[in-house]
Amino acid sequence: MADDNQRKVIRVADPAALAAAAAERLLARIGANRGRAAICLTGGSSPKQLYRLLATDSYRSRIPWDRVHWFIGDERFVAPNDPLNNMGVARDIFLDSHAPAANIHPIPTDTAGPEESAHRYEHELQAFYGARELEPARPLFDVVLMGVGPDGHTASLFPDYPAVEETTRWVVGVPKAHVEPFVPRVTLTLPALGSCREMLFEVAGSEKRTILTRLFADENLPAKRARSTGETVLLVDRAALGGEPS
Ligand code: 6PG
Repeated sequence: MADDNQRKVIRVADPAALAAAAAERLLARIGANRGRAAICLTGGSSPKQLYRLLATDSYRSRIPWDRVHWFIGDERFVAPNDPLNNMGVARDIFLDSHAPAANIHPIPTDTAGPEESAHRYEHELQAFYGARELEPARPLFDVVLMGVGPDGHTASLFPDYPAVEETTRWVVGVPKAHVEPFVPRVTLTLPALGSCREMLFEVAGSEKRTILTRLFADENLPAKRARSTGETVLLVDRAALGGEPS
């Protein structure tokens, strides 16, 4: 089904079905791009099952590792080996054992602060893209994975924070988080995240029911404002949907 905002909502049974559906969509997008593919991963707990699936024999053998580049949509300002580090989690679960090191693009956190990290990552993204301005016809990413926080944040774009309004920069520092973990963050902005062929939200579990209802009611939350220039898809499991109409 498509909601009023032309987001495509796909219902799945449970987190396992959600991870399988996400993996298939990821592979389809990588397959559709004959050249260098760029995937922007996300943090939080939602993508972990997908990451574990990508590490299994049946999926890892279907990924053309040499031509896929892996980025991260937001990072907690902690050391790379800290369990809270978003890219660290993805590296541990599947990237370090399969992806060439040069294809893994973490947000650096060994800097003076989140602003410096943001500038460095912005330069890295612009060098990869080959331009400093995003062209609508040439998306930066093939797929951008996203989650939805309890307050409607996505990436580290928290409600009513200035980072949500950013229209020029690709990456910004966020000195203070709105929800746990309360560590500074570095986040891609709405224009950078939206520059993709597909933005894929994973939303599972009954604890997401309240925020999903608010999202469907069209509240002006960052997770509602995050939109792909291509396709925006919400993969939602039965527990998260609760009584939502199909
Ligand atoms: C982070 C995230 C964040 C996350 C949502 C959902 O660094 O925390 O990138 O935006 O995706 O908070 O988190 P869960 O998947 O844990 O519910």
